[in-house]
This record gives sequence, structure tokens and C-alpha cells, in this order.
Amino acid sequence: MNPTLFLNGQRVDAREARVPALDRGFLYGDGVFEVLRAYRGIPFALEEHLGRLRASATALGMSLPAPISRLRTEVALALDAAGLPDAHVRVLITRGLGDLGVAPANVRDATRMVVVTPLAPSAQNPYRDGVRAMAVRVPWRAAKGPLAGAKTLNYLANIQWLREARARGFDDAIVLGDGDVLLEGATANVFVVHGDTVTTPPLDAGVLAGLTRGFVLAQAAGAGVRAKEAPVSFADLWTADEVFLTSSVREVVPVVMIDEHEVGDGAPGRVTRALHRAYRALTPAAGSPMPWDD
Ligand SMILES: Cc1ncc(COP(=O)(O)O)c(C=O)c1O
Repeated sequence: MNPTLFLNGQRVDAREARVPALDRGFLYGDGVFEVLRAYRGIPFALEEHLGRLRASATALGMSLPAPISRLRTEVALALDAAGLPDAHVRVLITRGLGDLGVAPANVRDATRMVVVTPLAPSAQNPYRDGVRAMAVRVPWRAAKGPLAGAKTLNYLANIQWLREARARGFDDAIVLGDGDVLLEGATANVFVVHGDTVTTPPLDAGVLAGLTRGFVLAQAAGAGVRAKEAPVSFADLWTADEVFLTSSVREVVPVVMIDEHEVGDGAPGRVTRALHRAYRALTPAAGSPMPWDD
């Protein structure tokens, strides 16, 4: 299905949409973005996503080319035009045109785009069966440095991790930094469960402040789960009863295998599901069947 696209405030046929070839987003990945989910046509956590978009832009020394209220309106217009009950919404801003060098100079005409696409159908049900992840070791600070917490357009490292994982027959990648401490997934945050305690790496480890991560941490107590933000060692990962990924698009996804090592009993766990239910309860899809029952 053709995505519904608003480019600089105008609805444009996605096949015809044009961005200047010298836009710094295209030349250097110089920009920021957000991906969120709409349930029953209603975007979930839109304000939080737009807030993070602004924070990511600030981290790059960019200002948003349109006020948040305008972006909010464009998301609503795009969702209306798409008419999809469940959808992905991507909001993207580039630094725009400027002198051709790497250092931003004479910058103007930022590009902004809102794209709505249907949720990709999948032959597998990761909620029912779990996913298999490959552990990737990276010198993380060297890879992303102070921008590790910003959602920038530069996803090359993440793309490489996923390419390698897929090439080896895995579904996903889990990233370990210096000293083999757990960081995050290629497009998700990671949680490990020991008994009734769930732990996720702290933000100062250099991970994205995932909004789903934040919601899951906040909901844990109500679901009878103790939640901690603390360093997670390789041993903690290997001895975990359950491991799961969180992201706005995929919500909460059980990991049942890391490399050749089975996680827990090799099936999606009780705590993962309890936290997924608690997360769902916050969304406009509250009360609908959980996706492992699909
Ligand atoms: C590297 C990375 N970490 C974490 C996340 C999860 O963030 P959120 O829950 O806000 O979608 C994402 C989402 O795309 C991501 O790309």
C-alpha cells in the first residue's frame, strides 16, 4: 500500500515526493526522526515522541522547522488521510540545505516529513514464539559518542548489526558494549528478568531513552514486578529467566534465544507478558486481544 506522506506541510503522493539532492539529510544523515504507532487511528504518546524529536534536534544543534503544534496537526492530517486503524507514523526532520562541506554553514530549508504506513504483516508471530537474537559486541562510545541518546537519521551501525544478524539466521541483534555490558537492541531497548525483578541498562550507558522502556518501567510495580535501571552484565543476560525488547512499533517482544543459548525455558515468559499487558493498557488498544493470541 502506498504510504501517506506530508512533505513540508503538503500532502504529496509518496511516489512523487521529492527532496533536494543537496539536503544534508541525504548527504550526511544530518537530521532526526521519530517512529510511533497509531491504534484505532489514534497516535500513542505523540507528545512524548515530539518532545524527544525536539531533544534530538537540540542535541544536533538544530531547531525544529515548525512548531510542535504544527507537527501534531500534520500527524493528525496524515492519519486521517491514511484512514488506517493501526499504523506506523514516522516524523522526520533534516537540517536542510547549506554549503556543501560537512560543517553546517548557511543552513536553510529544512525538510520535514510525516509518513503513515500500515503495520507490516508478518508471517511469524514474535509475541507467541519469541525472537532469536544475535549478540553483537561494539565499542559503543566510539560508535555514537554523546549522540547515543539522540534519535538521529544515522542508523548505519544499527543497519549493520541487523544485516549481520539476518545473514546468520537471527531475527534481531542485542548490543553489548565495553566489558560486555548490555546496551540495547538494534531498534529497541532490552530488559532482563530474574524472578520477579526486571532490569534494563541505565540511560547513562549511552542508550536511547526509549519511550516504551519508560512506560514499562513505570507500569512494572502495578503489574507486581520490581523494576531496576542498572548495569546488566553478560552473566546477567545469560542467567536471565526471560529477556525482552521494547519499542514503540513492536511494544514488548520476548527473546527466546541469544546466539545458541536458550533464554529461560526457551518460550515467552510470564513477566514479559504481564508487562506487555500493562503497557497495552496505556494505549488506545487497551482491552483488545493480546497479539500472541492472534
Ligand atoms: C536504538 C533504539 N533503541 C531503542 C528504541 C526504542 O525506542 P521507543 O520505545 O521510544 O520506540 C529504538 C526505537 O526505534 C531504537 O532505534
